[in-house]
Amino acid sequence: MNRATHIAIIMDGNGRWAKLQGKKRIKGHEAGAQVVKSITTFCSNHPNIERLTLYAFSTENWKRPRLEVEFLMKLLTSYLKDELPLYLENNVRFEPIGNLSLFSKTLQKTIKMVEEKTAHCDGLVQSLALNYGAKDEILRAMNRLKSVEGEITQELLSKTLDCKHDVDLLIRTGGDHRLSNYLLWQSAYAELFFIETLWPDFRVDDLEKIINKFAKTERRFGGLT
Ligand code: FPP
Repeated sequence: MNRATHIAIIMDGNGRWAKLQGKKRIKGHEAGAQVVKSITTFCSNHPNIERLTLYAFSTENWKRPRLEVEFLMKLLTSYLKDELPLYLENNVRFEPIGNLSLFSKTLQKTIKMVEEKTAHCDGLVQSLALNYGAKDEILRAMNRLKSVEGEITQELLSKTLDCKHDVDLLIRTGGDHRLSNYLLWQSAYAELFFIETLWPDFRVDDLEKIINKFAKTERRFGGLT
């Protein structure tokens, strides 16, 4: 049986969920933030899950209307401030990934604060991918390695990325079948699950079903069994 120790999720479908309810897109993001809480709590209590890496804002998401971007920034700030007790109660360490330097000073401070206050937690590691793009992550790592003499190995590049851990199970909600520049290096041998459910409708039961299916898949990593 496979153990899904690192789960990554592309949380898609907030806008469509809101539209179906006759609401503004931002209401979908608000509902999506609630699901982030329940899924994080579930993962923190699961014996096998060590890491949960969630795609919260991509390097491409700046192209959205200004008001939506501003709302997402406010939502992230308030989410992080409000949910610090949830991280601590569940022994969850927060480790952001992505290029944080483009965020406002307030958001950067809040991210740092939650990172520092949860640094001692040794349960689940929850990473939010913030201003994250896999191509950008790889480029930033390559630039950091420019002065290294000798060969750059896979291990060295892995260690230099923001996310240093291979993904076991990658889930995308919302019905699209693409990776959208998410954890491309780390997902080289991830099992991919694409489901129709829109992120605000995604529940712990849905995740459990996927984990059970994943447990039964045969992972060969290019070899033979
Ligand atoms: C994709 O839905 C979702 C995002 C671009 C942002 C993800 C954000 C959240 C789940 C909420 C905030 C997160 C935290 C951690 C507080 P979409 O807007 O692309 O949906 P659509 O494809 O239906 O338009």
